[in-house]
Amino acid sequence: MSDPAFKSLADVIAHRYGKGTVGGGKSGKDMPADDVLAGILNRRTHRRYTDEPVPDDLLDVLFAAAFSASAKSDLQQGSVVVVKDAAKRKALADLIPSMPWIGKAPVFMVWIGDSRRIRRICELRGKPFANDHLDAFLNAAVDAALAMQTFTLAAEAKGLGCCPISVVRNHLDAIRDILELPLYTFPVAGLCLGWPAQTGFISMRLPPKVNVHTDRYDDWDLAEELQGYDKRRDARFAIPADSHKMTDVYGPAPFYGWSEDKARQVSTPERDKLGRFVRAQGIRTD
Ligand SMILES: Cc1cc2nc3c(=O)[nH]c(=O)nc-3n(C[C@H](O)[C@H](O)[C@H](O)COP(=O)(O)O)c2cc1C
Repeated sequence: MSDPAFKSLADVIAHRYGKGTVGGGKSGKDMPADDVLAGILNRRTHRRYTDEPVPDDLLDVLFAAAFSASAKSDLQQGSVVVVKDAAKRKALADLIPSMPWIGKAPVFMVWIGDSRRIRRICELRGKPFANDHLDAFLNAAVDAALAMQTFTLAAEAKGLGCCPISVVRNHLDAIRDILELPLYTFPVAGLCLGWPAQTGFISMRLPPKVNVHTDRYDDWDLAEELQGYDKRRDARFAIPADSHKMTDVYGPAPFYGWSEDKARQVSTPERDKLGRFVRAQGIRTD
């Protein structure tokens, strides 16, 4: 949803990236912040919801929008499991007590990379499935992710809020059992959905200078750009000292910004069982 505080897209962009970081602050100045682009630029994760239910017909519309996302070769390899059964929902929430929004959100679903349907279609049409390699996994994961993000933007356009949950992949075997996921399917992410109880906030992003390259990949100025980004982010929302990670291992940082936080986060192994799980689901990763 667009925010009335923003008059032009340049205003929303400045809030997302920091003043002057995109087109010197000029790009989007003549474009009113009243359309789908303003909604995209305003997107934010919501983890607290009111108790108001989400009507089924609205959910139908959101799924119709989600699966309007582009899909590799029109193979349509995304699926979603909406968890309505109370016992299943509790079992999922109990797996991840550190994220109570999973149990409390009015709606919870798990987006699935689905390489099963096309294999069944091959069987039904008497053809071999001759693409059993890593690309099959990637295509299904991408289709599911595109549909999930399209769902999120559609939900936000109707005033709802979402929170994706990749932590479901910390419990792959349990998720497979609870959702009865058959061979050739795998969870990509959970998604909480509900009416936001708070306005939330726009999380600042790296400037497009860092991830938009021209003609060739070029990251020579990453260190300098990171410094500027860390400072801009810190000025908006400093990471409180009690949220600094792994101080027992790395000690206090002279300046604890986003890049220090993310480097510490990925310095311990996480989810290294995904390959084993996907292969056990029958999907090859070579
Ligand atoms: C694939 C994916 C998985 C995520 N997993 C979790 C999660 O397990 N728990 C959670 O609270 N947030 C999760 N998030 C939300 C991110 O933390 C959030 O997108 C990020 O902090 C940036 O904030 P923003 O979405 O408001 O821009 C996930 C987001 C994505 C895209």
